[in-house]
Amino acid sequence: MLVSAKDMLTKAKAGKYAVGQFNINNLEWTKAILLTAQENNSPVILGVSEGAGKYMGGYHAVVGMVNGLMQDLNITVPVALHLDHGSFEGAEKCIEAGFSSIMFDGSHYPIDENIDKTTKLVKICNEKGLSLEAEVGSIGGEEDGVVGAGECADPNECKQIADLGVTMLAAGIGNIHGKYPENWAGLSFETLEAVSEKTGDMPLVLHGGTGIPEDMIKKAISLGVAKINVNTECQLSFAEATRKYIEAGKDLEGKGFDPRKLLGPGFEAIKATVKEKMELFGSVNQA
Ligand code: G3H
Ligand code: ZN
Repeated sequence: MLVSAKDMLTKAKAGKYAVGQFNINNLEWTKAILLTAQENNSPVILGVSEGAGKYMGGYHAVVGMVNGLMQDLNITVPVALHLDHGSFEGAEKCIEAGFSSIMFDGSHYPIDENIDKTTKLVKICNEKGLSLEAEVGSIGGEEDGVVGAGECADPNECKQIADLGVTMLAAGIGNIHGKYPENWAGLSFETLEAVSEKTGDMPLVLHGGTGIPEDMIKKAISLGVAKINVNTECQLSFAEATRKYIEAGKDLEGKGFDPRKLLGPGFEAIKATVKEKMELFGSVNQA
């Protein structure tokens, strides 16, 4: 059964580790992440962007696929199905379809409007027992059409949003979606420390988890980050493994064109990436 992310993140914040959010795109992605979580006895959050939701046929299809896989694969670790960077309308649709967790990304609105819309969703999510993530400041780069300027969050605004009763808070701290550029200045630990001080026990969320150096990940966790989002890194490992298979001509040998074979190396590559992240974040054996 899908669960809200609240308990897993409260435990993670107290235990000084982070739960990974891994974005899904299709059945292979979902199965690879669920199996890796189960094998490593780790809680996990499956992220679904609005674009990926559409790609998979719609939010009901996503809920049906995830629930079915959990049942058939005997997944017993805690799993939250989470809308990633959702609009207000997207959030309403996912709540209706059966998601267990929602991110409302109101970071591009003026703070009063972000507060207003987040307040409405806090009420709905509380009534239904769902977890809710809000965002302040913005994440640089682009993910599935969501573009951010990358400005660091104002710690006072973070406190205003945290006080509304959200479950977790994503604060822009110089993090970027996609690959980090050569000249990236790194995470702003100054901002993270100030946000952490203002928001107390609130689990903080680090977006743009792809390619952040290990020491920065560990420092971010020590300063209150309890959820880390990874998307591009799974895409890169999937693409690299699939390319190698095709370039080696494996798709031409025997029944190598069979999608169950063709997608195999990419599937294993996602599993390896997710395992590596779970170990780095410290969520192994925390289910
Ligand atoms: O919301 C999802 C993420 O923040 C993932 O970012 O693609 O850079 O790993 P990433
Ligand atoms: Zn993100």
